[in-house]
Amino acid sequence: MATGPTHEPDCRCRICGSSVREFFDFGMQPVANGFVSEEQLGQESFFRLSVGVCTNCTMVQLTQEVPRSTLFHADYPYRSSGSAIMREHFESFAHSLLHEELSGPDPLVVEIGSNDGIMLKKVSDAGVRHVGVDPSAAAAKVAAAKGVNVRVEFFEESSAAAIRDEYGPADVIFSANTFSHIADIGSVLNGVDILLAGDGTFVFEDRYLGDIVAKNYFDQIYDEHFYLFSVASVRTMAARHGFELVDATRLPVHGGSVRYVLARAGSRPTHPRVELFLRDEDGNGITAMETLTRFGENIDRIRHDLVTLLRDLRARGKHVVGYGATSKSTTVLNYCGIGTELIPRICDSTPEKQGTFTPGVHIPVTPPETFHDPFPDYALLFAWNHAEEIFEKETEFVRNGGEWILYVPRVHIH
Ligand code: TMP
Repeated sequence: MATGPTHEPDCRCRICGSSVREFFDFGMQPVANGFVSEEQLGQESFFRLSVGVCTNCTMVQLTQEVPRSTLFHADYPYRSSGSAIMREHFESFAHSLLHEELSGPDPLVVEIGSNDGIMLKKVSDAGVRHVGVDPSAAAAKVAAAKGVNVRVEFFEESSAAAIRDEYGPADVIFSANTFSHIADIGSVLNGVDILLAGDGTFVFEDRYLGDIVAKNYFDQIYDEHFYLFSVASVRTMAARHGFELVDATRLPVHGGSVRYVLARAGSRPTHPRVELFLRDEDGNGITAMETLTRFGENIDRIRHDLVTLLRDLRARGKHVVGYGATSKSTTVLNYCGIGTELIPRICDSTPEKQGTFTPGVHIPVTPPETFHDPFPDYALLFAWNHAEEIFEKETEFVRNGGEWILYVPRVHIH
């Protein structure tokens, strides 16, 4: 529910300690990646999912933290390598890293949240020293089977110091879609400070607030995405920890991301792109309360339109299934109150999710083969960030008269 500009500040910014002004409240939500087995049904914990903006440093953040051990544990089910486009994306990044930042003598790269080794595999194949750090033993096992060197733990001061003691300073520390996940982000930055070489870089990529707001990607808001970064808020945060934002590049993945490069203050020149980004963000007012309130109103409209469409299709006897049991879908399904009466199943290619039920509304997750058997009339695409890849894979569905339903940037049939 849009809480609007009159809502009183209700918490303190985790970056600078100033007031955070809430702009949207999704109500009580289950853990987004907390897919449950039949035995676990009804044993989930819920927490309040609401999001606000810092009135001082403009960092957009959740107002309630779910303990990191609840979110990222041994059996964390997400696997980064589920998308061919993401595999290409990280292989290409690893390639450029190996030829640029890691081209000196005996370099070291450390990845925070290395998951199933989607990026580090290429580094390992090249015989370059690397360390992956990930709290999920199950994901680390998959990475290790690919030859990746992984430590099963959170990245923070103590793990950073232990890595430095064993391997020496890191030339590059990398994180893809994990740096924003830890509410105590200061512990991560302190770890980077301990481990990074004097002229090293901390490179991280994450979903971009500018795209989330402009394209109504409200389902990017869930427990794991504690911070929604903008270039301005990242620059301010970096400066508080003695780092400088020296580059920022747009990436097409996950509906629009940015790759940020931090270096120790004064150690590298800043690319002019950073200034252009800042001007653009300022001009578009991406963290202005007016913009964020409008975003909230759009979320409410999407909920109304999606539920109306699904009820109408059910009334007309149409068969609708979900495609991609994403963590994003937890926000959509629970906020919209969509259960098995409207979506009887969601197919997903991740073996760890198949046979489970989605958090909160308990829709069965089934393997991709069930999508064809028989084809539904409509498929609601929760994995919209992989639309290109999925449309290419599922041409038979459309040939059979099937149609895709998308809910961002507005509810429409593709
Ligand atoms: P993500 O949007 O967080 O990357 O999650 C994508 C989910 O969608 C993940 O559970 C895997 C699933 N998926 C499919 O089921 N089929 C596909 O073709 C792709 C690319 C993803």
